[in-house]
Amino acid sequence: MKSIVIQQPNELVIEEREIPAPGAGEVRVRITLAGICGSDSHIYRGHNPFAKYPRVIGHEFFGVIDAVGDGVTDKSLGQRVCVDPVISCGRCYPCSVGKPNVCTSLVVLGVHRDGGFSEYAVVPAGNAWVVPASIPDEHAVMVEPFTIAANVTGQVNPREDDIALIYGAGPMGLTTLQALKGVYRVKQVIVVDRIDERLALAERNGADWVINNGEQPLAGLLEARGIKPTLIVDAACHPAILSEAIAIASPAGRIVLMGFSTEPSSLVQQGITGKELSIYSSRLNARKFPVVIDWMEKKLIHPQRLITHHFEYQQVREAIEVFEKDQKRCCKVLLTFTE
Ligand code: NAI
Ligand code: MN
Ligand code: ZN
Repeated sequence: MKSIVIQQPNELVIEEREIPAPGAGEVRVRITLAGICGSDSHIYRGHNPFAKYPRVIGHEFFGVIDAVGDGVTDKSLGQRVCVDPVISCGRCYPCSVGKPNVCTSLVVLGVHRDGGFSEYAVVPAGNAWVVPASIPDEHAVMVEPFTIAANVTGQVNPREDDIALIYGAGPMGLTTLQALKGVYRVKQVIVVDRIDERLALAERNGADWVINNGEQPLAGLLEARGIKPTLIVDAACHPAILSEAIAIASPAGRIVLMGFSTEPSSLVQQGITGKELSIYSSRLNARKFPVVIDWMEKKLIHPQRLITHHFEYQQVREAIEVFEKDQKRCCKVLLTFTE
C-alpha cells in the first residue's frame, strides 16, 4: 500500500508499506477519502510539539472495513466507516468523567500513531463508526471536523436567543457556525475575521453578521450597536483575543477557547468575576461521532459548503500548499485514495 509519511519536518514521502493486519479488537479500513487539517500541516512543517517522526499524518478519514481482527463482533466487512482519531484508556480520571479526549494516556491517530493518509489503516474497532447509507462519502469524511464543533457547543448549551460571536472563519469557526445555526437554531451569530473572502464564506454558511476586525475595531462597533455577545467562541486562537472577549461579553456570558498558543494572555480578574463569566476550553472530541452522524442524517449541517478542493493523494504536496497559502479561497481540502 501507499502511505503519506512525514519522515521528518519538511520531508514528505509517499512510501510503499506492507498492508497491516488488524490485531485483536481492531479493524482494517480501506481508505477512500481524507481531509487536510491545520494539524497535518503543522506536523509536516515541524510545528506540532506532540508529533513523533516518521509519521503517517491524517486524522480525518473515511473508508470501508476490509478485515476484522479477533474478538470484533460489532463490525463487519464492507461497512462504510469514519474513524474517530481519539484513542483513550477508559480508566483514568478524565475518561471516568466523560472526557476521553484529554485521557492521561491520550493517543491521536495521525499525531501520536500512524493515521489515515494511507490506502489502509488499522484502528480500534470502537473508533470506527458505521455511516448510514443516507450519508454520502464526502459528508462522512467531514464528520471529524464537525465533532470539534459538537464538542465546543456541547460545553455551553447554546440557546436560540443567544447572541453568539465566533472569532475566525476558518474550517473550525465555520463548523461551529453551522452547528449553532443548524442544530441549536441560534438566531444571531456574528463571525469575525480579517479576510473578506472567508467572511463571505461565513455568510454562505449562515452567519447573520460578519465583521472584518482588521478594518474596524470590533469592540467599538458592537458597543455602537448595543450588542453584548452572550456566547463567544475563539476559533482564531490568538492569545490577545481572550481579553477582548472578556471585555465585550455580556454579563453571565460564556467563552469557549480552542487555541494551543504557548504565549501568555493578559487578563483582569474583575473583568471575569464582575460579570460572572464562564470560560471553557475544548480539545478534540469526546465521543461526538454518533452526535455528528445524527446531525448529518437529519440534514442539520451542510458539509458540502466547506469543501473547496479535491486532490488525488499523489498530489498531496500541492494540496497541502494550497491549503496553507490560499486562505482566501480554501477551506476544506479532500484527498482521494482510489486505485
Ligand atoms: P485557520 O487558520 O484556517 O482559521 C483561523 C482564522 O482566524 C483565519 O481565517 C484567520 O484569518 C482568523 N484570525 C486570526 N487572527 C484573528 C483575529 N485576531 N481576529 C479575527 N480573526 C482572526 O484555522 P482552523 O483550522 O479554522 O482552526 C482554528 C484554530 O483552532 C487553530 O488555532 C487551531 O489550532 C485550533 N484548533 C483547535 C482544535 C481543538 O480541538 N481545540 C481543533 C482544531 C483546530
Ligand atoms: Mn481536523
Ligand atoms: Zn484515560
